[in-house]
Amino acid sequence: MSHYFENDTDLKSNIRELKYAYNSSFFTFLSDNGVFSKKGIDYGSRLLLETYLKENKTNVNVLDIGCGYGFIGIVISVLTNSYVDMVDINKRAVHLTKRNIKKYDNFKGNAFVSDAYSEVKDKYDVIITNPPIRVGKEKLLEILNGAFDHLNSDGYLYFVIRKNQGALSIKKILEVDRKVEIINRDKGYLIFKVKNN
Ligand SMILES: C[S@@+](CC[C@H](N)C(=O)[O-])C[C@H]1O[C@@H](n2cnc3c(N)ncnc32)[C@H](O)[C@@H]1O
Repeated sequence: MSHYFENDTDLKSNIRELKYAYNSSFFTFLSDNGVFSKKGIDYGSRLLLETYLKENKTNVNVLDIGCGYGFIGIVISVLTNSYVDMVDINKRAVHLTKRNIKKYDNFKGNAFVSDAYSEVKDKYDVIITNPPIRVGKEKLLEILNGAFDHLNSDGYLYFVIRKNQGALSIKKILEVDRKVEIINRDKGYLIFKVKNN
């Protein structure tokens, strides 16, 4: 069985259109077989995004790592006037993100394929992620700990993990070096905020 994070070029395409509304702003996203949460926007991603939007950060540089079809990064760019780069290891996901970006004239940023930070050259004010869990703890920690090499010195990492997917053990590992806050929780999902330095 193939996982959503693999590049399965033989997988038949079945494009769907997903809808999302935030206050009076309306968005649509193309999704497809072979990408995460293809049938509907993931609850954890929504909780992460909406928690982040309440932080009222505007005009910042953001990296959405593990962007899928671009839900988190596109909404952030459009609603907060921010420059957002979006990366994923899954080529089909990045292709969908590029198609989804085109619908928003005021989107600023880029989408490209990257295994964790392998192709990421810049530094950001914010790194945000609903990280892949099934890739294993080592890759998960590469994505979370690697954020601090790609954040400006006063930047922040935001991420979501379900409590029953080891969120608290990940928290313990990260807080050896930094203060880790839980800024929201709902339905077993925890939203974390970590300041660089
Ligand atoms: C939980 S999904 C979140 C997707 C999207 N952000 C959303 O909210 O719908 C995690 C994403 O990480 C991607 N991913 C898995 N391994 C990766 C890696 N090594 N580097 C970058 N992205 C990866 C997967 O392809 C998947 O799209």
